[in-house]
Amino acid sequence: MGNRLQIDSVLRADVLVIGAGGAGLRCAAEICERRPGTNVVVVTKVFSPQKSHTAAAQGGMAAVDPKDPVDKIIYHMFDTWKGSDCSADQNVIKKVCESAWEQIVWLEKHGMHFSRTEEGRIAKRPFGGHMLNFGEVKAFRAAYEADRTGKGIMDTVWGESLKYGVVSLNQSLASELLFRNGRCTGAIVFMEQNGKFVAVLAKATVMATGGKTRMYQVTSNCRQNTGDGLALILQAGLPVMDLEAVQFHPTGIVGPGILASEALRGEGAILRNKDEERFMERYAPTAKDLAPRDLVSRCIMTEIREGRGLIHPDHKLPHVWLDLRHLPDHVHKTRIQEVSGFFSKFVGVQPQKELCPVAPTAHYQMGGAPTNEFGEVQQDPEQIISGLYACGEFAAASLHGHNRLGTNSLLELITMGKVVGERVVAYLDDVEDPGNVPEDGGQHVFGRFSRYLEAQGGERHADIRHALRVLMTDKVGVFRTEDGLTEAIEELKALKERAMRMELSSKSLVMNQELLQFFELDHLLDVSIVIAHGALHRRESRGGHNREDYPERSPDFQYHTLAHMTEYGKVTLGRRPIDMSIYDAGGEHREKFGIIERQY
Ligand code: FUM
Repeated sequence: MGNRLQIDSVLRADVLVIGAGGAGLRCAAEICERRPGTNVVVVTKVFSPQKSHTAAAQGGMAAVDPKDPVDKIIYHMFDTWKGSDCSADQNVIKKVCESAWEQIVWLEKHGMHFSRTEEGRIAKRPFGGHMLNFGEVKAFRAAYEADRTGKGIMDTVWGESLKYGVVSLNQSLASELLFRNGRCTGAIVFMEQNGKFVAVLAKATVMATGGKTRMYQVTSNCRQNTGDGLALILQAGLPVMDLEAVQFHPTGIVGPGILASEALRGEGAILRNKDEERFMERYAPTAKDLAPRDLVSRCIMTEIREGRGLIHPDHKLPHVWLDLRHLPDHVHKTRIQEVSGFFSKFVGVQPQKELCPVAPTAHYQMGGAPTNEFGEVQQDPEQIISGLYACGEFAAASLHGHNRLGTNSLLELITMGKVVGERVVAYLDDVEDPGNVPEDGGQHVFGRFSRYLEAQGGERHADIRHALRVLMTDKVGVFRTEDGLTEAIEELKALKERAMRMELSSKSLVMNQELLQFFELDHLLDVSIVIAHGALHRRESRGGHNREDYPERSPDFQYHTLAHMTEYGKVTLGRRPIDMSIYDAGGEHREKFGIIERQY
C-alpha cells in the first residue's frame, strides 16, 4: 500500500493557479494577456472549471460608472466601509471601487452579455446597503446578466483561459503546498481520476479556492466548498484571518438553502412575517428590505424566535415569506426567471401567485488567507511569502471586513484577480526557477492518506459530518454566546477524534469519493474550530459575527483576527491592524471613513 503514496510525476509551470473559478481564471487571463506564452496550469476539484461555484452567483457585480450622473465612487467606498462595520481595509476599498467600472468594461469586451436598458446601456439594479449620498437613498449600482451573472462571468473567463491555452487539471486536489527557503514553489496535486500524485513546480502559485461554508446545515455553497485551501494554509503554519466573520444570506430557499438572490428585493420583493407584516420597516426604516445582509438575517431570525415566523410543512424548518407577487410580469420573465424556477422546483411554489418561504443560509466567508492590497499572502502583517498569492473569496485583503455587501464579491474576485495577475507578471520577470521537489515534499499529504487508508474503528463519515453541521448551526451560527462557543470547541475536538476512526469501504485511490469526503471533512473540521476560536475571542458584535452576550461593537476589537493552528484545536490568535488610509489622509470626506454609526 505504501508505494502508492508517492510523487508519481513532476509538472513544471510558470504559474500554478489553485482553483478555477472567477478569481483564478480572471487572474490567469490577466497573466496571459500581459505576458503571452506564460505557462499557466490551473487545478480544479470539479469536473470542469465551468462547474465552479462562481457560476452559481446570481444578482450582479457592483460598479460605479465614473460618468454616472447621480452615483459616485466615493458613495460606493463609503457603503463598503459602513457595511463592513468599520473593519474593512480602506486601501483595498479604494483600489477595488476605483477600478470596478474598468472591469465591467473588460468583461463586456471579452464577451459577457450584461442585461441592457431600453436605451442599450448596461442595466443596473439596487442591492442591500448600496446607497446614494452617503446612505440617503438606494443606488442602482449592480450590473447584471439577468439572475445568472456568475455564469456570464465564468463563460467569459473560461473562454479566455481556453484562448490562451491554460492547462486545466480537472477533478484534482491541491493537497500540500511546497516551499523552498521560505518561498512557495508549487503544490502536490492529487489526481482523482487515476489516483496519482503530481508535484506541480511553479515560479508563482495563486490560491483561489473560493468559499467554505459547507460546515453549516443550510448553505448556498455547492458541495465542493469545503475549505481545502484554508486547511492547506493552516497546515503550512501560515495564518488565516477573520474566519469568525461568516455571512448568512437572508434569503435561502427553505430546505436546500439555495440562494434566492437579493436581486429579488432589488427588483421590489418584500420580506413578510407570518402576519404578512413588512417587518423590515421596523428595523431599518430607510433601507428596509435592502438593508445589509447581516442586519436582515438577524431580523429574520428575531422574527422567528419571537414567534412571528412559520414552519414549512415539508421541510419542517422555520422561515419567513418573500413576497414577489406584485412584481411586473416582465420582471419575473426576464430578470429573475432562474430564481423563480428554483422556487417552483424546490418548494413547489409559483412566485407570481404565492408567497415564497425563505430563511438565512450560510453564504460567504469574509475572512480568508491574509493578503496585502496586491494579493500577496502574508506570513504576518509585515512579511509576505514570496511566490504565494491569493484572490477571490479564499483571500482576505480585506475588502469586506466583517460584513460584505451583496455584489461586492463578484467585484472583488474580478478586480483582485486582475491585480494579482499584474503582480505575478512583474514577479515572473526576475524570479529564479523553483528547483526540484523539496526533500520533505509530500510528507503531510501522504501522512493523511495513510491514516485514511489504515484507520479502523467503524465511525461513519456521514454521522460526523451531520453532527458538525448541527453544532456549527446551533452554536457558531447567526447568534453566538460564550457558553455555546466554548461547548462548540470541545465538541469539535471530539468530532476530530471520531474522524480518526472513520473506515474506508474501498482502499482504491482512483475515483474514490469516500476518500475525498474524508479529506474534505478534515478540512471542514479544521476551518470550523478556527471560526469558533475567533468567535469566542471576539467579545463584541461586528458585521456577520453576532454575540448575544456582547451585542455592541467594541473599540477593543478594532482589528483583524489572525489565527494559527499548530495542532488540532491549538489555535493562537494575533492581530492585523485595519487600514484607515482614507480617514488618515484627511480631506473632504474624512469623517465618513472614521468609526461611524451603522444605521440604515
Ligand atoms: O443575492 C445575491 O444575488 C448574491 C450576491 C452576492 O453574494 O454578492
